[in-house]
Amino acid sequence: KIIPVIMAGGKGTRLWPLSRSSAPKQFIQVVDETSLFQQTLARVADKAIFEAPVVITNQDFRFNVAEQAREAGVALSAILLEPVARNTAAAIAAAAYYLGSRFGDGALLQLLASDHEIDPGEAWQAAIATARDTAMSGKIVTFGIAPTEPATGYGYIEQGEPLAGGAYAVKRFVEKPNLSVAEDMLSSGGFLWNSGIFLSRADLLLSELQTFAPQVCKAAKAAVEKATVDLDFVRLDQETFQTSPDISIDYAVMEKTTNAAVVASSFAWSDLGSWDAVWKLGDKDDKGNVVIGNATVVNTENSLVLSRASHLAVQGVKDVAVIASEDAVYVGRLDEAQEVGKLVRQLAAVK
Ligand code: GDD
Ligand code: MG
Repeated sequence: KIIPVIMAGGKGTRLWPLSRSSAPKQFIQVVDETSLFQQTLARVADKAIFEAPVVITNQDFRFNVAEQAREAGVALSAILLEPVARNTAAAIAAAAYYLGSRFGDGALLQLLASDHEIDPGEAWQAAIATARDTAMSGKIVTFGIAPTEPATGYGYIEQGEPLAGGAYAVKRFVEKPNLSVAEDMLSSGGFLWNSGIFLSRADLLLSELQTFAPQVCKAAKAAVEKATVDLDFVRLDQETFQTSPDISIDYAVMEKTTNAAVVASSFAWSDLGSWDAVWKLGDKDDKGNVVIGNATVVNTENSLVLSRASHLAVQGVKDVAVIASEDAVYVGRLDEAQEVGKLVRQLAAVK
């Protein structure tokens, strides 16, 4: 069976002020009733295919994880806690060491981001079925999504030769290209977006990490060996874990490995990473506005207006996001939505 490993330690700063350091976007209700983390749990609930999931997150979010899993009625097999954030390469290395020692080196891990909206229907199940044998045979399998625009916040996968079993070789992996490179890849064709989900044996992940990011491996291995366990929580050792470089799996391994494959996937997928993505996905009125919560718009076009607090009224603007949380308000052009993270870093510096 496949062991789902849910990565839920990101900060999600581009969805400020709804996404906060105490409860980042994967744990909040953005558009739907349940959080994106809970939707991720639901995606891997089929007991015929999946073991009980493992979550790896920052220690600050341990109660968000435990409570939301309980609320969703999901029994987790473990919650690995990072004492400091060192990005996804270190998180994955720690999970692979931990699970390799618990379930054996050949354990099949599905690494899942927890900040996506995915239709968990037939296409999702078919993609996993296709990926499975390819992963067992010794590939890190990615799930590629047909790109619709030259987005700069994603990884791009150049699709190579078909492999036995329905997946394709990965010719090239380009993480977060700049706009002109993204435009070139889109117009040349043959590229898919990286969905942020990977299926691989634990031992292959570790050997690729060892080759391309040895310091990450060393820190993660020691942090697992010195971890302390309390109830479901496996607390990674701080002194050793913090020596890991801060790098994502995409830059550390995926851009470099020659052992990657891609399943061209057709499940509906959306990274709710920024306000423009929420606007794109939302239900629009006849002027193209997405209005969520306690809000009214007048003479307004193509805007996202969302309030989780007092009544928000917006008049005479277009192409903007106006977001009100209980204690902060954000107003910005939707085409600047990728830059909200910079604003949040400035705010943190002011405090
Ligand atoms: N445990 C843990 N620790 N999880 C983390 C950490 C960390 O330090 N940092 C991020 N995560 C989690 C996030 O919560 C999210 O679920 C997932 O790992 C991916 O991290 P993001 O920070 O959201 O990455 P991204 O969206 O910029 O890029 C990735 O996803 C894209 C698709 O959404 C890359 O894989 C891209 O190639 C991909 O296209
Ligand atoms: Mg993301």
